[in-house]
Amino acid sequence: MTGRATVEGGGLEAALGLMAGASSVAVLTGAGISTDSGIPDFRGPNGVWTKDPEAERRSTIQHYVADGEVRRRAWQVRLASEMWHARPNPGHLALAELHRQGRLHTLVTQNIDGLHVAAGVPESLVVEVHGTVHRYECLGCDATGPMDEVLDRVRAGDDDPACLRCGGILKSATVMFGQSLDPVALHRAEQAALEADVLLAVGTSLSVYPVAGMVPLAREAGRPVVVVNAEPTPFDAGAAAVVRGSASEVLGPLVASGAPLG
Ligand code: APR
Repeated sequence: MTGRATVEGGGLEAALGLMAGASSVAVLTGAGISTDSGIPDFRGPNGVWTKDPEAERRSTIQHYVADGEVRRRAWQVRLASEMWHARPNPGHLALAELHRQGRLHTLVTQNIDGLHVAAGVPESLVVEVHGTVHRYECLGCDATGPMDEVLDRVRAGDDDPACLRCGGILKSATVMFGQSLDPVALHRAEQAALEADVLLAVGTSLSVYPVAGMVPLAREAGRPVVVVNAEPTPFDAGAAAVVRGSASEVLGPLVASGAPLG
């Protein structure tokens, strides 16, 4: 992403003012915060689903379980993922600074790349509502572990590795379409939207539920919502501020606004 942050809706000034007055911020991030780390998003102009709508249709648990070809393709995509070489960008680092200021209530992320923890946000404050690519899980038993263990098997030529304990189907520990979210994670996300002074939604098209429901929840609780996104979202109209710009350029100034003195 390049280009100066432009403003629409309440705009950058309104966002700066809201952040300046917030002592507790709930954050919801999506794939857009990681594009400047080299990880494509899904629905942006160069998004994974934008480029291959069939890939979105295939990314369901039903297809994954039923079709070995879908699994074999998925393991090759995992093996080649940009996530293994990605590093936190200034957007991730700004949210880690928000934590260091003592103002981060909860960081709810739809991302599976682990970059918020890599940037310095404590795991205890990060809620990965769509899971993580860094671990695998078995659909036949409760076996789970570091994704590298399975990727080593794929590299060695096993193109659809089965569980070593029960022979079941293995997948990444992410939430696929057709699977439900961890109810504890979802509850934490909802509580954050209700409790924090401000809800900051960054780099997400706010098009996937139930987690997009954090925004109406915050608004019904009278909490201002600040949207930072490169493209319009369905919730821009009701947001207290909309900043049309790059997360890696905008979040630094937003977090610096209202930083505790001393
Ligand atoms: N700064 C700000 N916004 C950006 C940037 C950037 N540098 N780069 C991209 N964007 C915006 C895009 O314009 C897009 O509107 O980020 C948004 C990302 O939206 P999606 O691609 O839909 O990603 P996300 O909202 O995280 O998707 C939610 O859908 O496919 C599932 O499970 C997947 O977690 C994902 C969920």
